[in-house]
Amino acid sequence: MRRRLSANEKIQIAIIGCGGIGRHHYGQFDRLKNQCTIVAIADVYQKHIDEFRTMTGRQDLEAHTDYQRVLERKDIDAVVVATPDHWHAKMTIDACEAGKHVFCEKPAMHNIAEGLAMVHAAREHKRVVSIGLQQRSGEHFKEAIEIVRSGRLGKITMVHCWNVGNETPDGIGNPPDEPTPPGLDWNMWLGPAPMRPYNRNRCIYHFRWFWDYAGGKVADWGVHLMDIALWAMNETDPLEISATGGKFAVRDNRETPDTVECLYRFKDWVLVYSHRAANGYPMNGRGYGTMFFGTNGSLFVDRGGLEVHPDGDRMPAYKRGGSAQSEPHAENFLAAIREGTPLACDVEAGVRSTIVPLLGNIAYRTGETIRWDAKRCQVIGSRNATALFSRNWRAPWGIPRRYIKPI
Ligand SMILES: NC(=O)c1ccc[n+]([C@@H]2O[C@H](COP(=O)([O-])OP(=O)(O)OC[C@H]3O[C@@H](n4cnc5c(N)ncnc54)[C@H](O)[C@@H]3O)[C@@H](O)[C@H]2O)c1
Repeated sequence: MRRRLSANEKIQIAIIGCGGIGRHHYGQFDRLKNQCTIVAIADVYQKHIDEFRTMTGRQDLEAHTDYQRVLERKDIDAVVVATPDHWHAKMTIDACEAGKHVFCEKPAMHNIAEGLAMVHAAREHKRVVSIGLQQRSGEHFKEAIEIVRSGRLGKITMVHCWNVGNETPDGIGNPPDEPTPPGLDWNMWLGPAPMRPYNRNRCIYHFRWFWDYAGGKVADWGVHLMDIALWAMNETDPLEISATGGKFAVRDNRETPDTVECLYRFKDWVLVYSHRAANGYPMNGRGYGTMFFGTNGSLFVDRGGLEVHPDGDRMPAYKRGGSAQSEPHAENFLAAIREGTPLACDVEAGVRSTIVPLLGNIAYRTGETIRWDAKRCQVIGSRNATALFSRNWRAPWGIPRRYIKPI
């Protein structure tokens, strides 16, 4: 299904998943229309196809309800996977096998086994697979990485990432199971996840708060923040992981915690991820962010900018504003396809940064302190934890076993 691109030919893209971020991606790639064209979309919800066409003014966009039809098309060079997390791996692997390049949203995968498979599928089929951890393309994030790695902050012993907000008392509410809305193929929406009756909170956007499809705030937002921590510290493999918390205050039907702390021990530093959905008092003065604590000073970074706060007079203070992230990330993907430019976040980097929040979720769900054997890509010594390493994919949406091996 591969097409050979000539130097001045545009890259032909299809967007799979026409919800919130799929629409955002249309805007990003449309701004780069001298380099690419969006020629098709796919979704299992007709309402989203209709809204997408209206929003973009592109009634001409060919829409498919089965993403496999997109993969069969010879005119498509690349796909954007903007579906819920539980579909990312299957779609990415199928696309690689069909000869397509892939821009896959974060978190790269639903469970660790799927991430390993994505890396091997991309390698085997020699496809460009970028993960949508777009902060990596922001110039001020790159500067933050440079400052951390320069040693100017001194010895960094702790990195803290957090998201806080107040969703009490009712959060996303408690709707009953209902008949599937017209125009939604619920069976195809669920795909590899277990069959169950339709519930609106499990579907559009709020799937994030259900273990069958995603990993709560830790995976949804934590992955962006921990990605920066791991990239800056140039380490991806925690030795020991523990987590605690619960669903203590928010009265809705979500499964994931409203309060959670994940603790990761590295050789000589600690990573902490904190999430509160039951109190919005800012941490370190902000609702979310990544902060590095060194013996000379601290560095805070979020999408709006970076700040260096000296400890006493051990280093100078410094501050700068934010920079664009999504558009340069999209442009980097096109450059990688056309010119072989290195990806800002290739599939391996994205998978490694997703493994860490997923390990936090495993520690939370098992209540065990777990150890990670990075070489073998295995959780050590816990049957409960090993059970959450993978999933039983509902047929016929399994991941080929041959791709599931250490990276
Ligand atoms: N990088 C970022 O900053 C960022 C921001 C938002 C969302 N995301 C990620 O993007 C993904 C989608 O999130 P969202 O908020 O856009 O969700 P959403 O529910 O708004 O959209 C998902 C779309 O995928 C469709 N879909 C589901 N199964 C499908 C299938 N089998 N084939 C085709 N379409 C299918 C749904 O019908 C829906 O239209 C998530 O993994 C999320 O974490 C990333």
